[in-house]
Formats: sequence, C-alpha cells, structure tokens
Amino acid sequence: MKLREATREDAALIFDWRNDEASRKASGSSDPLDWLEHCEWLESRLETFSSEKVYMAEERDGHPVAYGRIWHKARNTATISICVNPELRGNGIGTQVIGLLRDKIHEGKRTPIAIIKDTNVVSQKAFIKNGFKLSKQRLGWLEFRA
Ligand SMILES: CC(C)(COP(=O)(O)OP(=O)(O)OC[C@H]1O[C@@H](n2cnc3c(N)ncnc32)[C@H](O)[C@@H]1OP(=O)(O)O)[C@@H](O)C(=O)NCCC(=O)NCCS
Repeated sequence: MKLREATREDAALIFDWRNDEASRKASGSSDPLDWLEHCEWLESRLETFSSEKVYMAEERDGHPVAYGRIWHKARNTATISICVNPELRGNGIGTQVIGLLRDKIHEGKRTPIAIIKDTNVVSQKAFIKNGFKLSKQRLGWLEFRA
C-alpha cells in the first residue's frame, strides 16, 4: 500500500466514496455532495500552497482503495480524515492507510490529530490501533492524537 497526491482524475472516485451513507454520517455535514462544489473543493486542495492535501492510497498494482486528507491549522499539528472505498471496508485497509498518513505527518515533525464522532466506533478502533490516544471530548466528537 502506498500514498500518492490526488489529481483531478480522482474527483469521481472521491465523490462516490464520500457520498456513501456511512461516509456522510461520519462527517460534520451529512448532506449529499454536489458535483460542481466537489470539483471546486478538490481543485482548491490541488494548489501548491493549500493548507489541506488529499492523498489516494493505492494497492501495489496501482488500484486506489481509499483517500485521506491532511490539513494544517496549528503550527505543530496536522489533522487526518480518511475514507475507504465502501465496497472494501472491514478488511483492514483503513487501519493500514491511517498508519501511512500518521507516518507522513510524523516525518514533518507534527502531531497527527483525528476528530471522530463518538458513534463512529470502527474509525476509533482503526486510529487506536495506530497508536492514537483520546485527547479531548466535546459535543459528540472525540479528538485523538498520536
Ligand atoms: C472508518 C474507516 C476508515 C475504517 O476503515 P476500514 O478499512 O473499514 O476498517 P478496518 O477494516 O481497518 O477495521 C478497523 C477496526 O474496526 C473493526 N470493524 C471494521 N468493520 C466493522 C464493522 N462493520 N462493525 C464493527 N467493527 C468493525 C475491525 O475489526 C477493526 O477493529 P479491530 O482492530 O479491533 O479488529 C472506513 O470504514 C470508512 O471509510 N468509513 C466511512 C468514513 C469514515 O468513517 N471515516 C473516518 C472519519 S475520521
């Protein structure tokens, strides 16, 4: 498994995976995505100086299986979000990809953060397996750090 930066050509895959019901439930806004807004959203993340980057996780054969986002708000931290192809969930892919995203952030000498709904137990398990520890609890959301 490896990460590469997302491109415009990944827009449709990301759109489909993010529009899946469980993905929408996991997110702050659970409305279905609008295609044009999604393309604008991705376009802005592809800019060199964007504070948020989107990565595709690919199997050895180059087949994309998940995407991850990393964004920087504070100087010493970086926040991770992840979405696995809905057809491939529950096979350990999320756990693997979170490890790659965490390592990327550690390489940049920042602390990785994940902000997860308290109801999203699968995601919490996948982050905890990668060394993330609960750091804050607020209004239905849990913050983990590694
Ligand atoms: C959350 C998500 C990234 C996890 O990735 P995944 O590949 O499905 O999860 P994994 O197979 O790595 O499993 C992670 C853990 O959850 C458990 N799990 C997986 N599917 C499960 C299910 N349907 N019910 C209960 N437990 C489940 C696994 O057993 C594993 O726990 P373990 O380590 O104790 O065995 C993925 O399901 C996803 O994209 N969900 C929608 C978007 C989302 O919630 N993103 C996270 C927001 S930060």
